[in-house]
Amino acid sequence: MSLEIDFEGVKFKNPFWIGSGPTSGTGDKIVQALKAGWGGVVIKTVGDSIVRKGVRPMYAAMRNSNKDLVVFENIELITEDNLETWDKYIKMVNREIPNAPIVFSIMGSSDISEWSKLARWSEDHGANLIELNFGCPHGEPEKRSGAYISQHPDLVYDYTKEVVQSVGVPVISKLSPNVTDITEIAKNAERAGAKAVSAINTVSCLMGMDIEREMLSPPVFGYTTYGGLSGPGVKPIGLRAVSSISKNTKLTISGIGGISSWQNAIEYIMCGATSVQVVTDTVMHGFNQIKSWTEGMEDYLKRHNYGSLEEIKGKVVPNIREYSYLETLIAERDSIDDEMKKIREA
Ligand SMILES: Cc1cc2nc3c(=O)[nH]c(=O)nc-3n(C[C@H](O)[C@H](O)[C@H](O)COP(=O)(O)O)c2cc1C
Repeated sequence: MSLEIDFEGVKFKNPFWIGSGPTSGTGDKIVQALKAGWGGVVIKTVGDSIVRKGVRPMYAAMRNSNKDLVVFENIELITEDNLETWDKYIKMVNREIPNAPIVFSIMGSSDISEWSKLARWSEDHGANLIELNFGCPHGEPEKRSGAYISQHPDLVYDYTKEVVQSVGVPVISKLSPNVTDITEIAKNAERAGAKAVSAINTVSCLMGMDIEREMLSPPVFGYTTYGGLSGPGVKPIGLRAVSSISKNTKLTISGIGGISSWQNAIEYIMCGATSVQVVTDTVMHGFNQIKSWTEGMEDYLKRHNYGSLEEIKGKVVPNIREYSYLETLIAERDSIDDEMKKIREA
């Protein structure tokens, strides 16, 4: 049973990609992930003028009473490494794994020309797909960067178009859920020429505090900043976004948010995703879960007599309807019950 997917003309041996984040942040990690069996890796977002060392600590976690992860917060910026270092990482990855299935992730400053420069740099380094990071909640929205872009549909249009016109490879706009209607933002990316979207980036959050010490989390000398929420608890937000984009656009979709099992990946694919991305689960558990995940997914397809993932893509989307449609179903059932009652009493 093959789990191969075709994502805008690029083939991947399975739909599981490591999403952009700390586990795709060096050449070594990318090689390790691909050797473990992941279908692809989206590199940690690279940048130019905005790259610098981030603050510490930058993570916080919420767990349930069994100590299982519920949600995870990060205030990590894009990569701390400059383009020269990334040049070395990419060369190393391609030496170890020729034609490595990697997706480039980029983020420029508010100067639009930086986006096209980074896109061309990616293409020069062999990118087959380029993901535009429009959605980091703590990526300095006050400087018109990060989630600020997703929150301004005209900027999503302008930045996507700028990159689409600068390179020949398909462009993926990665969207933030911190907006009034992610589907409208996705439509703008589509109008600007993006072939695909990734959804979702993290959900803007404030994790909480230690009330005895009156200390916010994660604490940076007693202060904190709004961060990005990920992990199991955000999956329903991701599924909502992916299914709605699938229903209302022709975009290819990479589904992200809270995936911690192969079953979760099937959910995203049934909601319209072609590939899925995983970050928090790999931060917590490393890369080796991929073996049991691909086995589980293959077994599922066999048990249900499906020949490929294409057959289940978007399968449940037609079952997501307006509230009033559900009311008509209930009304129909009630009238049938009334009929049956009359027949029984006659
Ligand atoms: C520690 C951390 C760092 C991240 N860094 C980036 C990044 O540099 N670029 C990006 O597009 N998304 C970044 N993300 C967001 C993830 O790619 C993903 O959209 C989000 O975490 C939801 O997926 P998950 O629940 O599997 O973690 C980061 C997430 C985490 C947890």
